[in-house]
Amino acid sequence: MTDTTNGERKTVTITDNRDGKSWDFPILEGSTGPDVIDVRRLYADTGFFTFDPGFTSTGSCESRITFIDGEKGILMHRGYRIEDLAEHSDYLDVCYLLLNGELPGQGQKDKFVYDVTHHTMLHEQLINFYKGFRRDSHPMAIMVGIIGALSAFYHDSLDINDPRHRMVASYRLIAKMPTIAAMAYKYSIGQPFVYPQNNIGFAENFLHMMFATPCEPYDINPVLARAMDRILILHADHEQNASTSTVRIAGSSAANPFACIASGIASLWGPAHGGANEAVLNMLTEIGTKDRIPEFVKRAKDKSDPFRLMGFGHRVYKNYDPRAAVLKQSAHDVLEDLGVHDEPLLEVAMELERITLEDEYFIEKKLFPNVDFYSGIIFKALGIPTSMFTVLFAMARTVGWVAQWNEMIEDPKQKIGRPRQLYTGQTERRYKHLRERG
Ligand code: SDX
Repeated sequence: MTDTTNGERKTVTITDNRDGKSWDFPILEGSTGPDVIDVRRLYADTGFFTFDPGFTSTGSCESRITFIDGEKGILMHRGYRIEDLAEHSDYLDVCYLLLNGELPGQGQKDKFVYDVTHHTMLHEQLINFYKGFRRDSHPMAIMVGIIGALSAFYHDSLDINDPRHRMVASYRLIAKMPTIAAMAYKYSIGQPFVYPQNNIGFAENFLHMMFATPCEPYDINPVLARAMDRILILHADHEQNASTSTVRIAGSSAANPFACIASGIASLWGPAHGGANEAVLNMLTEIGTKDRIPEFVKRAKDKSDPFRLMGFGHRVYKNYDPRAAVLKQSAHDVLEDLGVHDEPLLEVAMELERITLEDEYFIEKKLFPNVDFYSGIIFKALGIPTSMFTVLFAMARTVGWVAQWNEMIEDPKQKIGRPRQLYTGQTERRYKHLRERG
């Protein structure tokens, strides 16, 4: 980050045209992407706050983890394009990259895989926690509860100022999320929990815990395992999205890592965010057939109708979400490998995409399919129930949350997150006693 060129400071000048006062603020340049105006001294020097509901023009932090060019539809993790990572890496490769800044060599990878693998089991007493939930609880409710409760079990990884505690907590969270997620599914269908196996891969382990039973061997389909692993890569991190920002602001108060990740899961659950993948499948199911698409597109454009096309639009991407492109191809590949040639939901999804990309409303507002539009079709083909879709998003995004959380704690500029406001409420007035209130 630099704020000088040839020794000359780069600044912007803000002038209050009510009294002609003006102030200079530094321009900070990153390695790529938009420059920023450093307004850290704005209030102290001018008495002004900035006003930016939804943070549409606000950089909340400095980060080296993920870069998005929304205009061009580019996503990079530590400088590597998401398309290359999805094609050539596996999820634990990407986890190592996000946490450490470099892709692992063979020795580093072997140790990382060993360490994560040996954190996949849960404290046995947590099984009792599941029994407190109704069988028909939404699995995201279980995820928020169980992850938050981990801080009651793992006291040796709570000190956020101890790098070793932070590393152990990070490994535990990445490793245990699939176990916790699969247990939430098994609990919902009344089947016994399946323990993690240390001799199979990360995605394979998840599918095994989801679908194996004690009654017979479960053969893992390598095509499905690879599809699962690729989906995890595509959901791993995404700059300062709502749930990551939630984790960062929770972490800025020095809350323990498990509480911070539980807050991220809660934020991701919303249908405007990670909950959209479940909402997309429900929407495609409701549309049912291609001939009903125009009716739903009309509703999406009707300002008086709260309905939105789920899986479309994005705060940052004003182009095709690169993850959606990979997932679209993966959906075709998985269905082909499974011998499914007439998946009506994929037919409806592709026709819906075709129609919207030719529609003036969507073109003008730059609304393209996002990561959630095709993922549910793959999840369905993998046998994952719709209610578990956002759980899988949370499972994949955990590494992004912990990488961003670690970066925040290690950032010497970081302070507790405490935004201000534009107050438009009542100004001071005399207290009105009950007898005066009528
Ligand atoms: C994720 O931030 C991230 O990086 C998130 C994520 C990640 O990896 O972490 O990428 C994951 O959350 C993807 C987004 C999943 N959500 C959905 O698919 C839900 C449907 N999409 C939207 O609700 C919406 O597009 C958002 C929430 C994604 C983005 O909202 P913004 O940036 O606040 O944009 P907006 O709501 O102001 O919309 C701009 C305009 C509006 O019209 P006008 O008021 O300007 O007339 O576009 C319209 C909106 O009405 N619009 C839509 C629409 N999305 C936006 N109209 C119809 N259908 C839609 N889906």
